[in-house]
Amino acid sequence: MNDQASGLRDLVAKSGEGNSKFISIASGKGGVGKTNFALNFAYVMANNFKKKILLIDADMGMANIHLFLKVDPNKNIKNLFMGEKVEDLIIHSYGFDTLLGFSGIDDFFELEDVSSQAVVTQLESISKNYDYVIIDTGTGIDEKVAAFLRASHKSYILTTPEPTSLMDAYALMKSVYNLYGYDHFKIIVNMAKSKDEGISTYNKLKTSVQKFLGIELELVGILPFTNGLQKAVKNKELVAISHPNDAYTLGIQRICEEELKIPSVPNEQFWQKIFDFMGKK
Ligand SMILES: Nc1ncnc2c1ncn2[C@@H]1O[C@H](COP(=O)(O)OP(=O)(O)OP(=O)(O)O)[C@@H](O)[C@H]1O
Ligand SMILES: [Mg+2]
Repeated sequence: MNDQASGLRDLVAKSGEGNSKFISIASGKGGVGKTNFALNFAYVMANNFKKKILLIDADMGMANIHLFLKVDPNKNIKNLFMGEKVEDLIIHSYGFDTLLGFSGIDDFFELEDVSSQAVVTQLESISKNYDYVIIDTGTGIDEKVAAFLRASHKSYILTTPEPTSLMDAYALMKSVYNLYGYDHFKIIVNMAKSKDEGISTYNKLKTSVQKFLGIELELVGILPFTNGLQKAVKNKELVAISHPNDAYTLGIQRICEEELKIPSVPNEQFWQKIFDFMGKK
């Protein structure tokens, strides 16, 4: 870690004390690498940069974070609505914390064993313990994905160079912007075969979004296609652990460094917004 990075870390620590940053990860299209990004970003932030991280599994399609963490998926947020304490539902793995099961959050509203306000209070309170709350929102463009994006300080939108992935990333941003006026989108190009391919992919998206939506995008980083990541996934491992010097892991490290340069902003009732946006009175 160089001096500049450690100076930045001190600055960030001072300016953002007690404030969690909420970052949602989304893509529109499935299978573009959101979950692997979320897990490895959480791991590197926690272990290389000593940040306190809470990872939220809100993947509507195939919630699979528990497979990588090798934990019981039934220890999840549903139990919070049934009276358990949030502290007892947190999974401590690989140096960061995880809460599972948010894909079903609006179904749990019906359980009513515990008032939704009590659930919100517990989630707001626990979130304050973390520097970053990272939300893996899963595939698709629906109200639930939109709720997590709208409540987040910023959203990382993942795309690959595939035209279908670019189209779905564009469609997601267009929908959330047109419906709700939300425009805090930051782009990550994943599975790039070269830096040039990554940059030209980003430029295509940036140009369309600028021209048709009038939004200025920002590039967070380019992550390469690597065999290391594929091997790690086959073994249900985090690439950042099994391949610490893989180009993908180094790319994640650079993204963390960039993220840490940005000062924290006050916590703005993230969970209250999620419940409101999902229509829970
Ligand atoms: N940078 C990469 N290099 C090589 N393969 C990758 C890379 N990123 C992701 N993959 C491959 O893509 C697959 C899907 O990744 P992941 O599960 O993270 O995507 P996802 O967007 O979360 O999918 P879903 O939409 O189903 O939630 C991985 O199993 C892996 O094989
Ligand atoms: Mg996923």
